[in-house]
Amino acid sequence: MKKFSYLILIAAVFACKSKPAANVTPSFSVSEASIGKIDTSAITEYTISNPSGMKVSILNYGGTVTKIITKDKAGNDGDVVLGYDSLAGCLQKSNPYFGVLVGRYANRIAKGKFTLDGKEYKLATNNGQNALHGGLKGFDKVIWKVEKLAGDSSLQLTYKSKDGEEGYPGNVTATVVYSLTSANELKIDYKAITDKATPVNLTSHCYFNLSAGADSTILNHILMLKASWFTPVDTSLIPIGRIANVNETPKTLPMDFTEPKLIGKDIDEVKGGYDHNWVLDRKGKGLELAATLYHATSGRYMEVYTTEPGIQFYSGNFLDGTLTNTKGGKKYVQHAALCLETQHFPDSPNEPSFPNTILKPGETYTHTTVYKFSVK
Ligand code: GLA
Repeated sequence: MKKFSYLILIAAVFACKSKPAANVTPSFSVSEASIGKIDTSAITEYTISNPSGMKVSILNYGGTVTKIITKDKAGNDGDVVLGYDSLAGCLQKSNPYFGVLVGRYANRIAKGKFTLDGKEYKLATNNGQNALHGGLKGFDKVIWKVEKLAGDSSLQLTYKSKDGEEGYPGNVTATVVYSLTSANELKIDYKAITDKATPVNLTSHCYFNLSAGADSTILNHILMLKASWFTPVDTSLIPIGRIANVNETPKTLPMDFTEPKLIGKDIDEVKGGYDHNWVLDRKGKGLELAATLYHATSGRYMEVYTTEPGIQFYSGNFLDGTLTNTKGGKKYVQHAALCLETQHFPDSPNEPSFPNTILKPGETYTHTTVYKFSVK
């Protein structure tokens, strides 16, 4: 009798446990929240969730990635990108491109000018005498049209940039598809077309800190860059045109991340911190591993795959704790996070030896980058 009631109890426990699971089969979903207005345009935050609970939030303003929620090795959720508590945060003048889509040309163009088919173009300069990240109002500060794609795991963002915008020639239509996969990857597919020859170089400017708020800097993160070469820069961060081996002289040793290395190990040897373009060791034209990032305490591990030839590793050098409306009021101090911006090399329009960045009418610019999250 005793044994019988014990069995009934076990059966009841199992019945209770399995019931809710049957009702809430995890699936992909996209939710929307209104976070304010810019002039008369509604600003919306879209959140894609995958079956294992990873979440990525994206704004129509700047195509900004505002949150990436991933689990640590104990199964706890954490947000691994820097950002703001409100739209006012994104709109502050000193917002250092948190999470945005960068275009028409990521990184710097020297003295804000270049010559194409015999004509000199003058760009808006916004970084000393150089043009940075598309100019005064780049793709990071415009409103993108957002469409949910079938399957509830992708959002398609479109922006039409006008001929002459920020000094660039040609009407450009840029399309970016953000997808969250069941393998915990944030996949970004970029496309662009133009009606006049123009430089195009698009990237994503997420600031990662895999500790999800536990560590105030990324100096304890371990980085690997699959790159034996980098593009040395002058004092205004413009490539000097030469491609240097990461082990060329003892002086460039801090640039060697071919084996996973603590970011803090050699950072003091690099004036101002890391803010350079590494030339990826590529085999072909497809999606290849470019970088890995590991935070031991949380166990979070991120792999970056790309079709691009370069990656800008920026160690958050200009963060100084003064940004307002940050998530939870956090002080984002120097090196609070790092960016891994997959791209063509800075200032390519003025460096004929660098891979071509000129998009012509009839051609399509394409670029895919995947940020894959796991734990180990
Ligand atoms: C890029 C640049 C840096 C800096 C940041 C934004 O990574 O290379 O010099 O401008 O963007 O603050």
